[in-house]
Amino acid sequence: MPGPDAAAEETFEDRLRALVPDLRDTLERVYGADVAPGVTDRLVAIARGGHEARPAELRALDEERMRNPDWFQRPGMVGYAAYADRFAGSLAGVGERAAYLRDLGVGYLHLMPLLTPRPAPNDGGYAVMDYRSVRPDLGTIDDLRDLATTLRAQGISLCLDLVLNHVAREHEWAVAARAGDPEKRAYFHVYDDRTGPDAFEATLPEVFPDFAPGSFTWDDELAGWVWTTFNDYQWDVDWSNPAVLCEYADLILGLANLGVEVFRLDAIAFIWKRLGTDCQNQPEVHELTRALRTVARIAAPAVLFKAEAIVGPADLPAYLGVGHHHGRVSDLAYHNGLMVQVWSMLASGEVGLAAHALQQLPQPPSTTAWVTYVRCHDDIGWAVSDEDARAVGLDPVAHRRFLSDWYSGSFPGSWARGLVFQENEATGDRRISGSLASLAGLEVGDPGAAARILLAHAVILSFGGLPVLWMGDELGLLNDAGWADDPAHAADNRWVHRPRMPWPEVESGRDPHGITAGLRHLLDVRRSLPHLHAASPTEVWDPRDPRVLLVVRRHPSGPLLAAHNMSGEQAWVSADVLHWLGLHADGLHDALSGTAPSLVEGAVPLEPYAAVWLHGGS
Ligand code: GLC
Repeated sequence: MPGPDAAAEETFEDRLRALVPDLRDTLERVYGADVAPGVTDRLVAIARGGHEARPAELRALDEERMRNPDWFQRPGMVGYAAYADRFAGSLAGVGERAAYLRDLGVGYLHLMPLLTPRPAPNDGGYAVMDYRSVRPDLGTIDDLRDLATTLRAQGISLCLDLVLNHVAREHEWAVAARAGDPEKRAYFHVYDDRTGPDAFEATLPEVFPDFAPGSFTWDDELAGWVWTTFNDYQWDVDWSNPAVLCEYADLILGLANLGVEVFRLDAIAFIWKRLGTDCQNQPEVHELTRALRTVARIAAPAVLFKAEAIVGPADLPAYLGVGHHHGRVSDLAYHNGLMVQVWSMLASGEVGLAAHALQQLPQPPSTTAWVTYVRCHDDIGWAVSDEDARAVGLDPVAHRRFLSDWYSGSFPGSWARGLVFQENEATGDRRISGSLASLAGLEVGDPGAAARILLAHAVILSFGGLPVLWMGDELGLLNDAGWADDPAHAADNRWVHRPRMPWPEVESGRDPHGITAGLRHLLDVRRSLPHLHAASPTEVWDPRDPRVLLVVRRHPSGPLLAAHNMSGEQAWVSADVLHWLGLHADGLHDALSGTAPSLVEGAVPLEPYAAVWLHGGS
């Protein structure tokens, strides 16, 4: 019998044989038939090198993940996202706190950017200067490997950002480009004069209109205009240059071999530029993701990709794969549409728009999952499409304005306390910063706040996908009043919802609003429901009561109806909904309360901001 290494070698060769043709075809669609074979050879060499250097323990993980490919889709899986320093000081500190995460049921930890960034300002670490070392105050590469190992031993997969739209101006490629190296200059989009930038800017939206207007920055040393979608110190790399693809493939495998299991493909929507468009969601984005994923599948099949594409609902499904990319691009993608709709429903107390918008999205491939979330480290942009709003009789501009007014607290009667982020005078857009608890009314002491926080979680935990909690939301942390004290943060109010973990408070066990206990209960119930596996189809039903979001999860054992009253009034799950689902009064069970609901004329009453997860019993 071959030893484990020989067996791993054999499966590697099998994967190579099976996947290289697809890699070559993909590259041909991006770079053309002349260039593709050479790039394929280079990527195969990178994959081989990556596989040879892969530690035995991780090769064993590869085998195990190939046997259990649905590990991230199971109802017991929940993620957590945090800044390492704000959560626990350093990478070693995070390892010491792993028990807290485990106790919460966390099986997946996204640590915010921790590879060496340029000195501040660095967009919260999203301006990486060196992808092969760790931010010195957090630890070293060895600490990163140790942390991944510690987490893995506790059943927690580590997710890191792969910032692939841009590098810091201080990254060695940019330094070389500025020093006159033509090969490295070709890693960036550089223009000698304004002709190119002006032509592109005619159709480019601004991402940071407040602190980084425009999408190009003049650089004296470069003697040119360089593409900078985000801040002027974040230089977009040119993915039409195959050398860039090879560099990132190599970086991915290097990090994977340290034990990183999931890569968050930061700002992936922006990596391909095309004149006359908004330079987002271009077809090549998906081809390039597919190429990178194929390389990872060959060399380190345990690795997953998570697309961070905070785009409109029409562009979202492509990140999990539509058409010929079905199931061949990212394994995970942020469900930005659901997140936005949760906030929209809570502000309006109505679910019509959400139900309609969510119904437009196709079922994701069954091997993939949405990342469902209520908050993350970023602002909230009102990605409600004009078509969806109009379809339910809303004026899209007025509705988005209402949401900005509501969540910045300026709308009469609003319980929310958010801040306006990046007001765009040209479009009227106003994005919102703020912690979940402050946006849900806890800061002003609104009596419905805790119920809203739990309800928002109930939606993301039942909708279908891998739910990810944002650090501090499990405690109901309010906006950080001192967010602007650090001069490097003062211009970017997203820091208001990036607080430090108040460990003494956590350890005191105080939970004055029952948020921690309520969330733990939701997670426990979710774990017990096979319907909530991400591969079970999700159906959003037309609302019968305009205040109640109806989500049906199909399962061979019978359907589960997750009904959420998004309003502050008493509402109903009507008898006909139960009837259509074949849920009979006798045997009807609400998994959340653990009881049979008491029906009123065949309908289930729902208290303000309450949820029920109904199924046919046992
Ligand atoms: C992503 C990050 C955001 C960052 C941007 C640029 O959208 O989530 O925080 O500013 O990319 O890297």
